[in-house]
Amino acid sequence: MLSKIFKAILHVPLFKQSLSVLLRQFPALQYLIPKLGIIVPIVNADRDFLEQKIFPMLAEDRQIKKILFAGVGSYTWHYFKFFPQQDFYTIDFDAKKAPFGQPGMHVVGSVVALSDHYASDFFDAVIISGLIGYGVNSKQDIDQTYHEAFKVLRPGGMLIMGWNNQPALLSFPLETLDGYHEFDSFAPAPLELAKARVEVNLENAHTFEFMRKPLVVAQQDAAVV
Ligand SMILES: C[S@@+](CC[C@H](N)C(=O)[O-])C[C@H]1O[C@@H](n2cnc3c(N)ncnc32)[C@H](O)[C@@H]1O
Repeated sequence: MLSKIFKAILHVPLFKQSLSVLLRQFPALQYLIPKLGIIVPIVNADRDFLEQKIFPMLAEDRQIKKILFAGVGSYTWHYFKFFPQQDFYTIDFDAKKAPFGQPGMHVVGSVVALSDHYASDFFDAVIISGLIGYGVNSKQDIDQTYHEAFKVLRPGGMLIMGWNNQPALLSFPLETLDGYHEFDSFAPAPLELAKARVEVNLENAHTFEFMRKPLVVAQQDAAVV
């Protein structure tokens, strides 16, 4: 109830601005948010798409049992609630963010080294949104992140990559990365998208791309006859 009221008044610009000023001035206040069990969401078009389209799609998919969500914050601590039937894992390389991770399922570590933390083929879905340009910055790290997501996803598992498509955050096409091409891009039917890649927020150019680890992984080495 309290959270619903919060969400409603967050649409009031003055309250939204005051709250973000308060949290910026006193960052320690953020840590009270999960402790008090209140939900203080970010309200914008990409967050709506994530929470109202992507999460319900994953929650309703009976093939998806284990989900990894990368990068946490005071506004994501409650994301496990979207997945009452599934295991919701979180990872963030910043130890200070751990209080916003899923208790007992959170790892302090980098997406650039996912396979250090999780077994091969472990996850049914991996969501990496808002990390490019916010910690996963170099071409090498982004490429490695695709490779690592590929390792920890089961065949047929889904990678959802989200990023603000701004030159200051990403200065080259993701298609130039080897890791990108390990996956097949696809437009998820439940979302009724025309394409695998969609820009969902015109203000920050936030873009999501839906990808699958192929069921049969192409053999690199041809058989020697
Ligand atoms: C802009 S926030 C995005 C958080 C969240 N994923 C979202 O949907 O908004 C970036 C977060 O990703 C974390 N992060 C950045 N680079 C990372 C990396 N290489 N591995 C794990 N976490 C990382 C940061 O510590 C920060 O908490």
